[in-house]
Amino acid sequence: MIVTLGVAEVPAGRPLAVRVSEALTLAVCELEGSYFAFENKCPHRGAPLAEGELAGELIVCPLHHFKFSLKTGRCVLPRHLKLRGFTVSREGDRLSIDVIDAAERAAADTVPAGTPGPGG
Ligand code: FES
Repeated sequence: MIVTLGVAEVPAGRPLAVRVSEALTLAVCELEGSYFAFENKCPHRGAPLAEGELAGELIVCPLHHFKFSLKTGRCVLPRHLKLRGFTVSREGDRLSIDVIDAAERAAADTVPAGTPGPGG
């Protein structure tokens, strides 16, 4: 699944929350003309990252202020925490964000266990 939005929709200097589905909201950020998209959920305790701030190339979680690199998604400290990132491509003034992994996961979550296959 590809999510598209206009470059102008992403404000300078702060993250934008983009709701994809009930299961997935993105935090979309701009840094010096490059765009980044992460799941809008801090890997520490799940706070909505789009409500945090940008500090240079870091996004700061609004809850406990952990800082994550926009370029790598990795937390400055503790380093084992990492954001779930999505590929963003730009064509003119449009951004395309590939959220296929998340969509597949959400779909898998909604398929009832034990669903009979063909002939079953
Ligand atoms: S929930 Fe983000 S740092 Fe704790």
